[in-house]
Amino acid sequence: MTKISKICCIGAGYVGGPTMAVLALKNTDIQFTIVDVNQQRIDQWNSEDLDNLPVYEPGLAEILTQTRNKNLFFSTEIDQAIKEAQIIFISVNTPTKSYGIGKGYAADLKYIEACTRKIAEVATDDKIIVEKSTLPVRTASTIKEILHYKESSCQFQILSNPEFLAEGTAITDLLNPDRVLIGGDIHTAEGRAAIQSLSEIYEKWVPKDKIISTNIWSSELSKLVANAFLAQRISSINSISALCEATEADVEEVAFAIGKDQRIGEKFLKSSVGFGGSCFQKDILNLVYIARSYNLHEVADYWEQVILLNDYQKVRFFQNIMKQMHGTVSEKKIVLLGWAFKKNTNDTRESAAIDIAKLLIEEQAQLHIFDPKVNEKQIVQDLMMKTNFLQEEILGKIKVYTSINQLFDDAHAVVILTEWDEFVSYDWKSIYQQMEQPSFVFDGRNLLKNNDLNSIGFRYFGIGR
Ligand code: UDX
Ligand code: ADP
Repeated sequence: MTKISKICCIGAGYVGGPTMAVLALKNTDIQFTIVDVNQQRIDQWNSEDLDNLPVYEPGLAEILTQTRNKNLFFSTEIDQAIKEAQIIFISVNTPTKSYGIGKGYAADLKYIEACTRKIAEVATDDKIIVEKSTLPVRTASTIKEILHYKESSCQFQILSNPEFLAEGTAITDLLNPDRVLIGGDIHTAEGRAAIQSLSEIYEKWVPKDKIISTNIWSSELSKLVANAFLAQRISSINSISALCEATEADVEEVAFAIGKDQRIGEKFLKSSVGFGGSCFQKDILNLVYIARSYNLHEVADYWEQVILLNDYQKVRFFQNIMKQMHGTVSEKKIVLLGWAFKKNTNDTRESAAIDIAKLLIEEQAQLHIFDPKVNEKQIVQDLMMKTNFLQEEILGKIKVYTSINQLFDDAHAVVILTEWDEFVSYDWKSIYQQMEQPSFVFDGRNLLKNNDLNSIGFRYFGIGR
């Protein structure tokens, strides 16, 4: 087996950046180069200013200080990095298709195909290609076909090594994974050797019994199914939150009680304004698309319901704001606390905040927005993608703050959309003094459930209670 000395990762995003940083930390004898077409992103990764990395992730900056420019490099020299590497990770984005066949469901594989073509074009020796991005089942065969289309003496082994890290806890997830999954061609000696090469990189810190190898299709499908099961739990508890609001039950108590059953477990039972993030919706839509393409319509409908319930939860939350605020928010100052799809990340993809903001803007509310890690440019871009408004129009409807100075002055309502810890420690008595009366708090995360806001004078509404 060839000794692995150089690894390339194509795609310097939320997956590629943190994953390679941890691999580099644990494999000091290997040189890692992360390449990207986006020069600005690479410059940010190379910048001395570790507070403004393209990806905010607790613990990441510390690892970069130990690895960057030692055995971890960020570059736009894609061809050279591919040429030199024995292993190439593909960590490019695979968004839901917004056009053509499979629009709104299927994963858009154009970036994967572009990478594969690039590898086929520049490779001059054998490579192990590792799918890191979430991909539809059987993508490996597409990659294989493209690689072998070009006449070449190079041998390519394709592995699937899906990422299970959750943003906000990516570094701890990578350092202490529940499992590492490697799918490959287990029926050939070359396939098994490739799996072994990748496995050895993880074995530097992951116990062997946590490294699972399967056939490639099982590995690709497992990633989609893991995310579908996780999202399903959230939609399940969110469906119960609606029932709790209609009765005297409290969803937090119900979640606590059912979570004590070891067969159910305590995690992922937090009712919220709705799940977001780049994976859950995309992967379930993809699963639905795949099931339909095999004529498994009942299976497709079953999983699609997880998404429909999530959409319903966001609308239900918005409708409660309207109902409690006497049916109108027109010209009212509404503070949105949080924009990221969860705490401890600057990622806003599919964040529930975007949907809630859109609905409130349509009701002519004036939105005053603060998130500790998301800037105005990102928020405006998210709203432009979600609505048909131009940038100037959006800027007339929202104001983005960089601190909470004056944020609450004369506001009618505060809407909590991300569970950032710092929101709990705000001086809510003082905030109450700054706001219009009556002062409403709509807590999409049940974050302030113990702050006793009602006794301060607020009209406080959580989820499912
Ligand atoms: C997810 C998977 O957890 C991870 O394994 C996979 O690799 C990528 O997709 P991520 O999307 O980064 O990770 O975050 P996650 O912690 O799963 O949260 C997703 C969304 O669900 C967030 O909006 C979060 O706020 C929400 N959520 C999570 C809830 O509303 N309730 C919960 O109990 C848990
Ligand atoms: P993820 O969450 O999957 O990591 P991101 O969007 O954060 O997704 O990162 C994907 C990265 O892949 C982006 O920085 C994008 O510029 C990069 N990328 C997409 N296509 C290519 C390509 N053909 N070659 C190199 N980099 C690419």
